[in-house]
Amino acid sequence: MRIALGCDHAGWEMKEDLKPFLEGLGHQIVDFGTDNQDSVDYPDYALPVAKAVAKGDLERGIVICGTGIGSSIAANKVSGIRAALCHDTFTAEMSRSHNDANILCLGGRVIDMELARRIVEVWLNTPFSGGRHARRLKKIEGIEKCGEIR
Ligand code: RB5
Repeated sequence: MRIALGCDHAGWEMKEDLKPFLEGLGHQIVDFGTDNQDSVDYPDYALPVAKAVAKGDLERGIVICGTGIGSSIAANKVSGIRAALCHDTFTAEMSRSHNDANILCLGGRVIDMELARRIVEVWLNTPFSGGRHARRLKKIEGIEKCGEIR
């Protein structure tokens, strides 16, 4: 899979850990930064990841900040993005199966690397279930397009 990665300073260490892990699983990574632990603003990194995924240039995205909250708020402002903040494998699985999440948000200050790797693996390997869940996503699309459910 082609995966966009992005982080702020608080997520940098986790991004650097996940990069070789994901490559080892056979994925192609495009790294949108940041490139070190100097303080930066998470929207500057969540946005290019979200745009690349929304455009279809890359299939999935993973964004990491201190809590994952700011990155998820920012990424979800981009039309077509369903960014899910997950800190356990159950919600990671559900975010794919029920919500067809196309971006995973992680908190580098919330979970350890080992759990992050397990979450990422589950998230990448779980397909969308479709069916009634697709109907619900259509409603979200309606909200996104015209602020209404149609
Ligand atoms: C940076 O200190 C921190 O606010 C950021 O990484 C993130 O947790 C925001 O949601």
